[in-house]
Amino acid sequence: MTHRFRDLLALEPLSAAELSFLLEQSRPFQEIQRHPLKKLATLRGKTVALAFFENSTRTRISFGAAAARLGADTMNLQAEASSVKKGESLLDTVHTLDAMKPDCLVMRHAASGAPEFVARHLEIPVVNAGDGTHEHPSQGLLDALTIRDRKGRIENLNVTILGDIQHSRVARSNIHLLGKFGCRFTLCGPAMWVPQELEKIGPPGAVIRRTARIDEALDGADVIIVLRVQSERLHEPALPLDDYVLLYQLNAERLRRARKDAIVLHPGPMNRGIEISPEVADGPQSCVLEQVTNGIAVRMAILYLLIGTPAEEAPQTTASSGEQTPAKARESTHASD
Ligand code: NCD
Repeated sequence: MTHRFRDLLALEPLSAAELSFLLEQSRPFQEIQRHPLKKLATLRGKTVALAFFENSTRTRISFGAAAARLGADTMNLQAEASSVKKGESLLDTVHTLDAMKPDCLVMRHAASGAPEFVARHLEIPVVNAGDGTHEHPSQGLLDALTIRDRKGRIENLNVTILGDIQHSRVARSNIHLLGKFGCRFTLCGPAMWVPQELEKIGPPGAVIRRTARIDEALDGADVIIVLRVQSERLHEPALPLDDYVLLYQLNAERLRRARKDAIVLHPGPMNRGIEISPEVADGPQSCVLEQVTNGIAVRMAILYLLIGTPAEEAPQTTASSGEQTPAKARESTHASD
């Protein structure tokens, strides 16, 4: 029997209500990040397999920390030093991992659609930790959580996304999520990184405009999402780095074009001095480190919803408040499909 959150592969297919549900479920886990003792026993006895076929620092550590703080064990596949390098196929690798009986698989892969492909072949839930240029659902959720905390809402905001949007799974997950809450998007970067087809990627009715002029893009922005210049995904940079800095770097002077209370997000890793100036990265409008903290909360919620069982202990904050626990909410919300 399958349920709505059997896997978490993308935000695009999720409704605003489902996305709100996921964000709500992250709240008690945000609380836990502030406690001196952060470890729960909620997923004691469970095992989370982490298979990162593409390099990752924060996402891999964040999922690992999320599992550990829920009391789960982890199994780590290090693609660089594994049989993948000896020519093993993706399916053979994940079937081998699966045979070690983890309860779910968190995977990152350079090929768009790889987690979905794997999910079709495994019984256990699969979580997409970033696939090619397709989606990065946990990043989209942690960004939304960060925006909601700082701005008090995620509805009807002017969101400017700067940089290499064409190759960004983060931008896509952001647009799929925030677009369902009425946010309007301005995409800005060199023309080859912001092709016209991006205007169509949002949910029906989403307002997405493009501009190559950063000043115009920042006018009236509530939220600015700065993307990394992904040299590893490009054979040719869109333009020389020096020119990129000159034309597109978010610096303090440019930031003044945005609304006074605008916030700045960056999924990391940042190329300081390239897409973002140190002054902005470390300034009061920057949410970069809050994003990292919220990442653990969101990933705890994801793991909890996918492999927690209703009989198990719920996080104190919800259990003691008499509200519906995440586990119970899961039973009622995740009808069979
Ligand atoms: C992003 C990714 O890998 O998609 N980073 C991340 O997960 N925090 C963005 C990037 O690599 O530029």
